[in-house]
Amino acid sequence: MAELEGLEFGKSDFVLLDEVTMEQFMENLKLRFEKGRIYTFIGEVVVSVNPYKHLDIYGKEVIENYRGRELYENPPHLFAVADAAYKAMKRRAKDTCIVISGESGAGKTEASKYIMQYIAAITNPSQRAEVESVKNVLLKSNCVLEAFGNAKTNRNDNSSRFGKYMDINFNFNGDPTGGHINNYLLEKSRVAQQQDGERNFHSFYQVLRGGSDELLKSLYLQRDPAEYAYTSQGAAVTLASNNDSLCHKAVMAALKVIGFTTEEINSIYKILSTILHLGNLQFTSDGEHVIIVGEDTVKHISELTSTEPENTRKALLYRTVATGGGEVIEKGHNEQEASYGRDAFAKALYERLFAWIVGRINSVIEVKDYNPVLHGKNTVIGVLDIYGFEIFDNNSFEQFCINYCNEKLQQLFIELILRQEQEEYQREGITWQHIEYFNNQIIVDLVEQPHKGIISVLDEACLTAGKVTDTVCLDSMNKKLGQHPHYTSRKLCPADKTMEFNRDFRIRHYAGDVTYSVEGFLDKNKDPLFQDFKRLMYNSSDHVLKEMWPDGKMSITEVTKRPLTAATLFKNSIIALVDKLACKEPYYVRCIKPNEIKSPLQFDDGRCKHQVAYLGLLENVRVRRAGFAYRQPYARFLQRYKMTCEYTWPNHLMSSDQEAVEAIVNQHGFEDDVAYGHTKLFVRTPRTLFTLEQERAALIPILVLFLQKVWRGALARMRCRKIKAIFTIMAYYKCYKVKAHFWEVERRFANVRNMADYGKSVEWPTPPAALVQFHRITQHLHRRWWARQLIKNIPPSDMGEVRAKAAALSALSGERVDWGYSRAWERDYLANAKDSPLTSSNFVRITKELKNKDQYGQVLFSCSVRMLNWFNNTKDRALLITDKHIYRMEPKKHFKVQKRIPLDSVVGVSVTSGSDQMVALHTASQDDFLVHLQRGQLNPNQDRVGELVGSLTDHFTRVKNTPLPVKVCSTAFQVHMSGKPKSITVETKPGQTAADFKKSRTGFTLLLPHQ
Ligand SMILES: Nc1ncnc2c1ncn2[C@@H]1O[C@H](COP(=O)(O)OP(=O)(O)O)[C@@H](O)[C@H]1O
Ligand SMILES: [Mg+2]
Repeated sequence: MAELEGLEFGKSDFVLLDEVTMEQFMENLKLRFEKGRIYTFIGEVVVSVNPYKHLDIYGKEVIENYRGRELYENPPHLFAVADAAYKAMKRRAKDTCIVISGESGAGKTEASKYIMQYIAAITNPSQRAEVESVKNVLLKSNCVLEAFGNAKTNRNDNSSRFGKYMDINFNFNGDPTGGHINNYLLEKSRVAQQQDGERNFHSFYQVLRGGSDELLKSLYLQRDPAEYAYTSQGAAVTLASNNDSLCHKAVMAALKVIGFTTEEINSIYKILSTILHLGNLQFTSDGEHVIIVGEDTVKHISELTSTEPENTRKALLYRTVATGGGEVIEKGHNEQEASYGRDAFAKALYERLFAWIVGRINSVIEVKDYNPVLHGKNTVIGVLDIYGFEIFDNNSFEQFCINYCNEKLQQLFIELILRQEQEEYQREGITWQHIEYFNNQIIVDLVEQPHKGIISVLDEACLTAGKVTDTVCLDSMNKKLGQHPHYTSRKLCPADKTMEFNRDFRIRHYAGDVTYSVEGFLDKNKDPLFQDFKRLMYNSSDHVLKEMWPDGKMSITEVTKRPLTAATLFKNSIIALVDKLACKEPYYVRCIKPNEIKSPLQFDDGRCKHQVAYLGLLENVRVRRAGFAYRQPYARFLQRYKMTCEYTWPNHLMSSDQEAVEAIVNQHGFEDDVAYGHTKLFVRTPRTLFTLEQERAALIPILVLFLQKVWRGALARMRCRKIKAIFTIMAYYKCYKVKAHFWEVERRFANVRNMADYGKSVEWPTPPAALVQFHRITQHLHRRWWARQLIKNIPPSDMGEVRAKAAALSALSGERVDWGYSRAWERDYLANAKDSPLTSSNFVRITKELKNKDQYGQVLFSCSVRMLNWFNNTKDRALLITDKHIYRMEPKKHFKVQKRIPLDSVVGVSVTSGSDQMVALHTASQDDFLVHLQRGQLNPNQDRVGELVGSLTDHFTRVKNTPLPVKVCSTAFQVHMSGKPKSITVETKPGQTAADFKKSRTGFTLLLPHQ
């Protein structure tokens, strides 16, 4: 069921009609035609209405839509049928055929071309060269066959004047490997004569209008169809779309592509021109003999046919007859006989040319070197494009044959459609009720029955010696067939004035009544051609031409069997064709011609109704519906409709698909409308399927949403799993990095205990980001451990000095030139006998008293200093710093304490970056100590500033737990004296013997001796 079409385009399958009546059928057909939907299904049959305009529905995209799809998945189309035939062939290795029928101009040939194009487009995906070349020849052969086999008729500008059945062979891959074309009953009478408004075969006009000057000259032709008797009548007829000149070039190119040799192509055109020249031959009489008018023409003909002019002339004027006694005599024609012989010769030439071309194409495309063992089963798709019913004003022998052929095909259609249907029911175990339909076997019998049928009457008349006329023949038919319900004539029905006495007979064909004029029947059936022409052609030195006339080989005296009549030959070929089709799985395209005027707009109700009636389309619908309109394998049905039932969606838990299908059917209450076959479900009324389709269509958007939801969820979960995995990997990797870092640290530091520098020189590995802090801590730890290793052997008595040095280092290192770290720090220099040998005992005694009095614990520092007094004079004094106080003492007066401030009041220390010994101790009361340390005997040239700073800061941080800011100034530094800010600078002064302070403009300058 086509999904892509809305109901506004009518029903895409006639089976869906509410009621099968002609009215409803026509209404739907018309609506679809008007909406540009030219194709409609009847089950698997496609009904096609000629649109008479270009439709954009055969492109690549459309082909892709149909490729490999089921019939009901897309709107009706030729491609759907072509694909079904191809699929059946490929999947089930079945030979299939596509039968295209309909009357002249209904679009059969176009349909066959689209089908061929479709098959070419979907095969050989791997583009194998040999397959491509087969496809190319198959497609190109159309162009050649149409040039030689088609003509403009009043019904169709490009009417096929022959029947064509083409087999395409496929290998097991489903790629075309070759083909074969059968042609049926070329309408050769057209060569000599055409009806008003019609033309001869296209090939004549094409060569005359499109051939090069050179070619025409070599053929003795003029570029004007009006010059030739056989083409002059059609010369003025114009074609809407046919450009003869362009077509000629296309045909030439196609001939080359197919593989015709230059010699062969030359011969083809020589034969065409021979025919044209023959048509211009006239006969007259000199009273005694018949003579030819235009000797030049005879010369040209003999040159073009590579024969002797004398022989040609003879063949045109005489007939050789063998007498009973084996004698041979020449009998001259009369004018009428000569003209008749000429036309018969021309027609035969063309007919044989056409047959030879078809044979030649076949020799190119025939499957070669095929070995079923090697190549697998060779399957076939046949495409039949054969003339449809023809009912003209004047119907002759050709129409009789054509209409008989259509009766046969209709017979096949009925038989196959019904047989197939019945076979399927049988296979599936379904009881089937017989359907009444009109069986046209009776008409077929009327024509072909031995001894009684029309053909047999005709043949009998032809066999009878003596003058048997068409009228005599008609009498004989009247006698033999008078009782037949489908045969009548004026004699049998004298009241019917639409028939002429002694001329007309009428057959009630399944497609309608056709009145035939018996005139010419006998002659056309006998189709005589004087032996002389055959011999003439056989003796031609043109090989190609000779090849076309093998029967000219026979000697005149040989007694030959009478050749079969045209009707019998045709009947045999059609019976063979039907046999060929009957063993294949058939697919049908039924073409309808919407009007007589090639209009894309007009839908001629009467005409269409007639065609629908005689094509038996209504019966087709009825047969299709009477049984079961639809059938589908269980799995497929389930797949399509499972969403309409809770037990089957999304998957069923039943033991078989059939049971699941039953669940769907029961849920919808369709039990009475279906039958269960072995593998398929059969649905009687289309409405059931329609309901299911509608329900499905309503559910699809919900399902789409559902699927989207599930799929999005699945995607998100997949993403989530991936991310989780990434994190796990990352975690393991980080862990590994951390461990690796540990291992590396461990490896590098394993031996530090035994190293001389305790691992100070070991380089730390770069830590991963997670271990940056850890790294800092371990580094710190290591440094502490390392420091510990360094100091653990230092005796406790030395620890004070070490601490003070460490404190001095952090306060001064890098800023002060020298801080005396390399010597031992004695601290209490004034009490040291080595440093102050003269005063130390005195100082020791005094400080003992002081210690008792001020209760201090230890001396942090003592030394002689030079410092400023109250009046800004510089004096030598003693500086004593204990853990409680800072003392200024007068060394000359038994170290009398001149000033004492609590150590707590010290808020900072300033020193210079130079090597001078100046120190400022800033106090909270802004009355700073500014001193220059004097060095004694112990280390007269070494620095004591570092020792003072170190001892103080160590004491402050370690004991008092408050930091003591130390300022290292490179130029001047600031102090306060009695609350007043003073700037202290340092200068060296030549001639200065000892360091001393001197008042400056902004404060004081420490003058240093020049060194
Ligand atoms: N599917 C189609 N699309 C467009 N034009 C078409 C189509 N089928 C037929 N025709 C037109 O109708 C004309 C007759 O078709 P054709 O196939 O030759 O008829 P038939 O073979 O049945 O006699 C074509 O030449 C073309 O102009
Ligand atoms: Mg055709």
